[in-house]
Amino acid sequence: MAEDPHGDPRLRIEAAHKAFEQDFGRFAPFRSGVSKGSVTLAEAEKLERELGELRSRHAGKKSAIASAKKIIGRVAAEERAALGQLVQQTEAQIIEAIGEVEQSLKTFIEAARVGRERIDVTMPGRRLRRGHLHPITLMRERIEDIFVSLGYAIEDDREIETDFYNFDALNIPEGHPARASQDTFYTNEGLALRSQTSTVQIHAMQRRGAPVRMIAPGRVFRRDTPDPTHNPMFFQVEGLCVDRGITMAHLKGTVSEFLRRMFGAETVTRFRPSYFPFTEPSAEFDFSCFKCAGKGCRICKNSGWIELGGSGMVHPSVLTDAGVDAEEFTGFAFGLGIDRMCALMYGLDDIRLLFENDLRFLEQFR
Ligand code: DAH
Repeated sequence: MAEDPHGDPRLRIEAAHKAFEQDFGRFAPFRSGVSKGSVTLAEAEKLERELGELRSRHAGKKSAIASAKKIIGRVAAEERAALGQLVQQTEAQIIEAIGEVEQSLKTFIEAARVGRERIDVTMPGRRLRRGHLHPITLMRERIEDIFVSLGYAIEDDREIETDFYNFDALNIPEGHPARASQDTFYTNEGLALRSQTSTVQIHAMQRRGAPVRMIAPGRVFRRDTPDPTHNPMFFQVEGLCVDRGITMAHLKGTVSEFLRRMFGAETVTRFRPSYFPFTEPSAEFDFSCFKCAGKGCRICKNSGWIELGGSGMVHPSVLTDAGVDAEEFTGFAFGLGIDRMCALMYGLDDIRLLFENDLRFLEQFR
């Protein structure tokens, strides 16, 4: 036998086989299959990875068997055949053992994954909780529908304003007493949270020019202490109609028609002279109580009338400041509170309920 610098090849092959058997020991029980419940899916996946490592260690290119193969050519001719057979047999045994366990694990993992992803179609469904609109939104949409049918556009504008839009452009200069009654919240940069939707009149005229017919529902803010009839944030709808030959008669007709559609065909509207800086003349409007038809009840505080909003003919200087020719055009405007209408219609004795997000209250408006 030729001199072998690495020792007896037969012994080396046997040693390699032994080392394999030792490493393979914990996999051996899985040769004929992985029984259900003996391992978890995660454990089986881990075993599969470890088996891959074991394969490259004992049957890969750098394994002891691979290097034993290389020296076969160097042993004496008469021993070569027998040794070659031994190497091949050993290698075949190793590969077969690994292959069997690999197959068992694969089968088990596939079945476990399918089981995990299976859907039980007989399981009862989970009920979807259906939401609904907030009472303010319901009211706003009713108002919008009425005005859209009268040919008005809906304007949605910013809630943060400069003093110019909130006051100056509406004919309320610095020091005017109307600024105090509408004290609002200011940002650090001196911008104001709008205290009325009348600001949108100016934006709409600047953007659309004249003629223009629009309503602007939206949020407004005032520095009020909350009580049953006040909240520092509430909702208004502004209306504006500017065209050639618009008169107070158009204002009265429009507001009366709106209130009839809102509260019933028999509703009567009344206008009382009033003052607003941005209208001249100005009027507040009331409508006959929808509950008692004017006879007097708790809702109208026995007066038969319910006060709703302000209105008037747009002041010429407001038109001019917004870029509309006051010689050619005239217009009317009005504004009213949505929260107040909501409270009236649903008989709420505290408007703060609208903003507390208490589902026991809100779910009554489904
Ligand atoms: N902006 C007024 C307020 O907040 C309401 C109002 C009055 C709006 C007269 C108007 C108007 O457009 O013409 O109380």
